[in-house]
Amino acid sequence: MKLSNIEKMKCQTVLITGGTKGIGLELANQFARNGYDLVLVARNKTDLQAVAQRLNRDYGCSVVSFTLDLTGRDAALDLAGRIEEKGLRIDVLVNNAGIGDYGPFGEAKLERQLDMLQLNIVQLTALTRLFLPGMIERGRGRILNVASVVAFFSAGPSWISYVASKHYVLAFTRGLASELSGSGVTATTLCPGPTETNFVAQSGVSGVRAYRWIPKVSAAAVARIGYSAMMKGRTVVVPGLINKVFAFLGELQPRIIAQTVFSFLSRDPNKSIRWVRRTP
Ligand SMILES: NC(=O)c1ccc[n+]([C@@H]2O[C@H](COP(=O)([O-])OP(=O)(O)OC[C@H]3O[C@@H](n4cnc5c(N)ncnc54)[C@H](OP(=O)(O)O)[C@@H]3O)[C@@H](O)[C@H]2O)c1
Repeated sequence: MKLSNIEKMKCQTVLITGGTKGIGLELANQFARNGYDLVLVARNKTDLQAVAQRLNRDYGCSVVSFTLDLTGRDAALDLAGRIEEKGLRIDVLVNNAGIGDYGPFGEAKLERQLDMLQLNIVQLTALTRLFLPGMIERGRGRILNVASVVAFFSAGPSWISYVASKHYVLAFTRGLASELSGSGVTATTLCPGPTETNFVAQSGVSGVRAYRWIPKVSAAAVARIGYSAMMKGRTVVVPGLINKVFAFLGELQPRIIAQTVFSFLSRDPNKSIRWVRRTP
């Protein structure tokens, strides 16, 4: 559905990291459908061009895309500079891009782990810091940070730094939301459970019990729920009934119960860690 010129004048702009695949792509569809102009960021230029063309054709929105690897140390600063050069104003920031890395930590590739922390934590924080002042000054704006239902559990063997990174996103956004109370700017954390996207193969979690046993929610449903919660100014949203139960369980005391359940669900029986005790 194309928008009339008067409707277009009211357009706000959303910046979505990782807006070309999975949850980010569905969020891009959701924002475009609701009349937003888009700024998309991802590494693959061909994907960005294809998504931009389709969104423009289907919804008549303007889409500006930036090919950028957000694991780079100064990636957020670089992006903010390029956005300023184009004279774009960001009304909504969606920190969606994120990666996982499943496997015993002692065998993990250090480079992948550090990239993950840069993307999931550092650049999310930097982008928020860079775009928030403008929103506060205008007295309106929205931030949507994509965490995960794993953020509610404090222990998970074989994806410990991924889980910890999502803990950060949840804690950071909860704190931010409370700090922003009354400012006209809201912060929301979207905490999906297993979702059918490229993340599953790329992060090596396809054999993990949670991914085999818990019914996956579609990326489109996750995006719809996240968008709606963000528009209502909610601080935390968990899509799907089973995931909600897990999130609730994760916050229950004593936490040892939730940790035991989560440790069990975190295992991939084919990739179990077995220690061989060596005698001197
Ligand atoms: N899928 C799940 O089961 C699940 C569950 C809970 C939480 N999540 C979270 O949901 C978010 C989105 O994941 P998804 O499942 O939609 O993953 P996905 O299908 O793999 O999509 C990831 C998106 O991020 C972009 N991206 C990846 N690395 C990037 C980098 N270094 N720089 C810039 N862009 C990058 C990708 O594009 P390029 O490859 O072109 O860069 C793509 O657009 C993540 O934060 C993830 O942790 C996912």
